[in-house]
Amino acid sequence: MTASVCVTAPAKINLHLEVLGLRADGFHELAMVMQSIDLKDELRCENTADGTLSLTCDEPDLSCGDDNLILRAARLLRERSGFSELGARMHLSKRIPIGAGLAGGSSDGAAALVALNELWGLGLVESQVERLAAELGSDMPFCVAGGTQLCFGRGERLEPLPPVKAELGLLLVKDPEVSVSTPWAYGEYRRQRGHQYLQDEASFERRRQDLRSARWLYPLGQDIPPLRNDLQTVVAPLTPSVRNALECLRPQQGCLQVAMSGSGPSSFGLFLDRSGADRAKEAVEAQLDGLGLRSWSCSLIPHGVKLMS
Ligand code: C5P
Repeated sequence: MTASVCVTAPAKINLHLEVLGLRADGFHELAMVMQSIDLKDELRCENTADGTLSLTCDEPDLSCGDDNLILRAARLLRERSGFSELGARMHLSKRIPIGAGLAGGSSDGAAALVALNELWGLGLVESQVERLAAELGSDMPFCVAGGTQLCFGRGERLEPLPPVKAELGLLLVKDPEVSVSTPWAYGEYRRQRGHQYLQDEASFERRRQDLRSARWLYPLGQDIPPLRNDLQTVVAPLTPSVRNALECLRPQQGCLQVAMSGSGPSSFGLFLDRSGADRAKEAVEAQLDGLGLRSWSCSLIPHGVKLMS
């Protein structure tokens, strides 16, 4: 067993989020392209070997109680290991905005699985870690290996794609005071668009196949990604900060496309490279400040949770 392990947990954006239909288990059947970005939390875990699991965080707004995905992941991993005496003291340095549609909580949970697997010497391989992650949240399996992946099912059926080729920069915008509940966003989508849902597996599979063969994915960065987020069509009209963010980003020099990420409310503009995103951040910052919006200039990265040496 190791004394301590530190991992980074990157945020993700959705380059494509298509709601196909409703499943028998109440979740939505999705066709997505998820992409890791270099906005990261950091999780440090120390061995206690006394059967206690504890979590602290430098962000006072985040609950470190039993509902936190890090503690839920730790408990699940310990239970499945069969070693009830395993323990860890964990500390999270939070950089990813909370309730933003960036999978910050999911990535932290995935980070706990990866870090504790290492700390406790359990020897689980990536696919086993992803299976445990799927028990805790729909976005969590993606966060383990990250990079660029097709995500089907409720998000847990992963098909890795070639890594992003060109640099592509990203300007991410969010109102720190606003968060969107994922169940609410899906519920609203169902209420407004449920009558358009596809009904059978053959129709789902046709849409998956369309996405698998989309030219802009091979490799990402060669063509301009068209960006699609079905949840944006119901969240944006009801969330002024999303509309403001998209309106500020769209006219920026070099901005290729704009979209909301996940169930929102974070939104982003895509740029040809990181310096384009940096320049846009400088140009638009005062306007965003005036609207109470914060921004982050980011790059796309080819990996998810990573052990730090
Ligand atoms: O899996 P996760 O905890 O992230 O899901 C949160 C909620 O979002 C679910 O309880 C469900 O209401 C909604 N959801 C959905 N279909 C998905 C993923 C999430 O309806 N594929």
